[in-house]
Amino acid sequence: MKRIAMLGSGFIGRFYADSIQGQRSKDRIVSIYARKEENAKKFAADYGCDHFTSNMEEAIAHPDVDVVCIALPNNVHEAAVLLCAKHKKPVVTTKPLGRNGAEALRMLRAVEEAGIFHGYLEDLVYTPKFLKAFESVKSGALGRILWAKSRETHPGPHSDWFWNIELAGGGCMLDLGCHCVEITRTFIGKDIKPVEVMCWADTQVKPIEAEDHAIGLIKYENGSIAQFEVSWTFRGGMDLRDEVMGTEGTIWINNFLRTGLEMFTTGKGADYVAEKAESNTGWLFPVGDEVNDLGYNHMFTEMFDCIEKGTEPRETFYDGYIVNAILDAAYKSAKTKQWEPVELAVWRGKEGLTKDNHLVEYDTDHYLIKEEMTHYGAKKVIIKNKHSGKIEEKILE
Ligand SMILES: NC(=O)c1ccc[n+]([C@@H]2O[C@H](COP(=O)([O-])OP(=O)(O)OC[C@H]3O[C@@H](n4cnc5c(N)ncnc54)[C@H](O)[C@@H]3O)[C@@H](O)[C@H]2O)c1
Repeated sequence: MKRIAMLGSGFIGRFYADSIQGQRSKDRIVSIYARKEENAKKFAADYGCDHFTSNMEEAIAHPDVDVVCIALPNNVHEAAVLLCAKHKKPVVTTKPLGRNGAEALRMLRAVEEAGIFHGYLEDLVYTPKFLKAFESVKSGALGRILWAKSRETHPGPHSDWFWNIELAGGGCMLDLGCHCVEITRTFIGKDIKPVEVMCWADTQVKPIEAEDHAIGLIKYENGSIAQFEVSWTFRGGMDLRDEVMGTEGTIWINNFLRTGLEMFTTGKGADYVAEKAESNTGWLFPVGDEVNDLGYNHMFTEMFDCIEKGTEPRETFYDGYIVNAILDAAYKSAKTKQWEPVELAVWRGKEGLTKDNHLVEYDTDHYLIKEEMTHYGAKKVIIKNKHSGKIEEKILE
């Protein structure tokens, strides 16, 4: 059982609380901090917390608290993390870790120097669909991963501070791209070094300084490529889709808009449908169990289990830092219109990889390009002569 201080009583603080205290869980939020006391008090009443406060340090230092969960706006993450380090409290933090790589690095250093547990709450690598897909990738069912793509687009966030570039640290690329970067990075291999980023970003619709639409490519040292597509201007709800392509197979994941549950209503008795759904009439795509399907349950289970066992969770502040560093390069590339290097002050994965040898032997003199069964029943192979380079085809009866 874990006793949690929740920092932030807003949108994600409540989703987290629904997950942490859901089903027959014994984990409890024992202290809630919100900037306005009335919001802390309301949250405490809704979730049965004994202690509420508008003093952040008081919640963190509370003697009943054994882990702190940060669910605050991006500009407040660092101050909250530094207080957890000061009071030596295990800490889990929502995404993005920092507003940029420098901020994330300071947070990583602070928790490591304090010797406290640190978890990065990237829920989308804990969804049941992701976990299943990832098992297949790890077992080799897709072969060598060549390309991983992740898309998160919706009509925009729900609080004022997200739209302020100073407070948020960026636009949709930081807010949503952080998910896509970690999803694709996990499929490609977290020990494979991200080396360069090419990115387009623009403000197409909203009257803001930050980007509201962006597309980017991340090159990895082993030759794999990741792609992200993010937007705050997409209409039609929240589109969360991932694709992975390897030498032996493909996976397509649709997390939210086409989950197999489709419903039509004229609007009679209409209510909440799903996060960022734009309508509650007509054809709708409800989500069966949002806190589970978005990965929160599996994420908190792993985080709290690791605290109890003294082990490292799959997602730590180190991962949050790598994600921020990749996005820093994306922001730079959007300005320079060039491939920009990923600057990593800390890298703990493999070094100096080259593109894997990808040639498949057909026989001693030939490489195989492709084999196929034709509709007229013949097996056809296309091969390349290793010495002359000549490409030819053979029909095998
Ligand atoms: N899927 C996800 O992982 C996910 C989804 C949504 C938001 N988030 C992240 O959660 C964090 C909070 O987002 P949200 O959507 O809950 O925002 P929100 O605006 O709904 O809630 C923010 C909370 O922080 C408090 N707060 C606001 N400004 C503050 C300040 N200056 N100092 C202290 N407290 C302040 C508010 O009172 C509120 O309780 C962000 O970092 C965001 O990126 C993550």
